[in-house]
Amino acid sequence: MKDVKEVKDVKDRRWARVDDYAVRALLKNDPALDQAREAIEKAGLPAISVSPLQGAFLHVFARATKPHAILEIGTLGGYSTIWLGRALPPDGRLVTLEAEAKYAEVARANIARAGLSDLVELRLGRALEVLPQLAAEGPEPFDLVFIDADKQNTPEYFQWALELTRPGSVIVTDNVIRDGALIDTSNEDPVVLGGRRFHELLAADRLGEQRVSATTIQTVGSKGYDGFAVALVTAD
Ligand code: SAH
Ligand code: DHB
Ligand code: MG
Repeated sequence: MKDVKEVKDVKDRRWARVDDYAVRALLKNDPALDQAREAIEKAGLPAISVSPLQGAFLHVFARATKPHAILEIGTLGGYSTIWLGRALPPDGRLVTLEAEAKYAEVARANIARAGLSDLVELRLGRALEVLPQLAAEGPEPFDLVFIDADKQNTPEYFQWALELTRPGSVIVTDNVIRDGALIDTSNEDPVVLGGRRFHELLAADRLGEQRVSATTIQTVGSKGYDGFAVALVTAD
């Protein structure tokens, strides 16, 4: 009998191969994105950027929401930033937040190579410190928010996202399933607790103030088994 680990590895390989297939079938050659992935790897940044297909999802989804302003929490090397930034009109704005100076430097170069420096504002600092500063500036509401930073603070970022959006805005949150750890109540890793607190927040919201309409989608692929949540802001 195959052990559980072996079965999992076989499945992971199949998911990755299907991702490869879909990438070849659907995604065009894209020097700026390829160079960004290479620069991220070369600089030794963690291999946790969204996958190419997930990036394309963010792009298609962003295009459909016709955003003028996008907020991203967690830049890393700017790979998702490029996919999102390309959905903006020439006078649009993308604010992206990153805590690590070294990552921000890699991201700035990648964003510049993609020709997006005029649209993208990278703010260096811990998001829980930068978000109040951003809010104090009274920015135009963000039409789309992508939450993808330290997972233990996801619920706090979601609450800030609600402050910084308008009815009709959409908030996408990455990594909310974590290999199914989400439902393992014996797992008290702050990252997993963050995912659970986040869902409790969505549930409380559903019963209470009715501020969002949300769903969680499980995903598999080259990054393994995880998922993202999509929330439509329905009321102030
Ligand atoms: N969105 C990126 C991946 C982000 S990885 C992409 O898909 O291409 C998560 C990032 O969040 C890392 O770069 C990490 O340094 C950053 N991060 C972690 N804690 C943070 C914090 N408190 N404030 C801002 N950024 C943070
Ligand atoms: C991991 C994956 C992510 O997409 C992310 O944003 C952070 C961490 C991970 O697999 O550890
Ligand atoms: Mg992520």
